[in-house]
Amino acid sequence: MVVAEADQRSRLVPPPWAPDCWGDEDRAVLVCRNVLEITHDVKSFHFEPEGERAFTFEPGQFITLLIELDGETVSRSYTISSPPTRPHLISITVKRVVGGPVSNWLHDTMVPGARITADAPLGAFTLTAPPAPKYLFLSAGSGITPVMSMTRTLFDLGSDADVLFVHSARTPADIIFRRELDAIAAVMPSIRVVHVCEGDYPSERWTGLRGRLSTAMLQDLAPDLHERETYTCGPAAYMASVRRILGEVGYDLRKYHEESFSFEDLPAAQVPPAIDSDDSPLSAGEADAGTTFSVEFVRSGVTVTCGPDEYVLDAAYAAGLRPPASCAQGMCGTCKTTMLSGEVDMRHNGGIRPREIAANKVLICCSKPLSDLRIDS
Ligand code: FES
Repeated sequence: MVVAEADQRSRLVPPPWAPDCWGDEDRAVLVCRNVLEITHDVKSFHFEPEGERAFTFEPGQFITLLIELDGETVSRSYTISSPPTRPHLISITVKRVVGGPVSNWLHDTMVPGARITADAPLGAFTLTAPPAPKYLFLSAGSGITPVMSMTRTLFDLGSDADVLFVHSARTPADIIFRRELDAIAAVMPSIRVVHVCEGDYPSERWTGLRGRLSTAMLQDLAPDLHERETYTCGPAAYMASVRRILGEVGYDLRKYHEESFSFEDLPAAQVPPAIDSDDSPLSAGEADAGTTFSVEFVRSGVTVTCGPDEYVLDAAYAAGLRPPASCAQGMCGTCKTTMLSGEVDMRHNGGIRPREIAANKVLICCSKPLSDLRIDS
């Protein structure tokens, strides 16, 4: 297997002292501790581990929930909104998505005492270590969760890093963690929080920055933009807009980090296509134009044809199969399965661990065949 692995980062926060830590390799049962209403359609779910354990992870990482829905196991990845500096609980913050099976299930059925199975934290969208002296956090909608974990971490650590956190929302009622962020900024001068709203809410006229993030707005808020390490999370269109703005001002994109899970709870039929094939690891010269490979999905009993320049997930969808998938970018691990035979070129973004790769696990959304394949799916 050919593998491109995400950068390995050293931990910003040392693992907590505990008899046992959950956070490296395993699947575990989590127990819901409490549920908090954050906005009219967003809730935070706090979980504790079963038994004498503590959570260890990096701010910005996600966990993958496995839920039984209509007799099928559905997996969804959610970024952790709590900081690793509070290792007794782990929280996710979930917006109810119209038609989204998992977010509605969580909102309607997850109550204190309920148990849920989850895969351990994963992901490469984390703060660099050592920390940068200046950060720019940009988020929109429920994309706030990873940068909230980062902000809470820096706050808990008493960091003197200069943080500018610009969050975009539709209306003031949609600003997630509004009061908590304002309270953090009120007591920690090194953290500045700016909310940007597109419009008013019926019960509140918005008096702050209005509209969508623009080049002029960002330059005005951050005249020292080029000195800041930037972390962005939100819907794909928002992040495309941020990249365009940063491109216009000549920002050094080596200091730019982004993640999107805006499609995290779409029905399977709406999962976006896999990574743009322009990223193909095989050049036109390397790929034999006439070559195709067979991919057998053993449990489905279906064999599909896949070109050398095509992602296995795309080939499966083209054939009418619906294997689980979420990010389609090698980040979330939802499409992880076992390769029973064959070889792939996998270019992931932190959604799989070295130990899993050694055990023939593969992310089919970012894998192209190098031979005929048999997949346990
Ligand atoms: Fe997210 Fe493949 S769908 S890693």
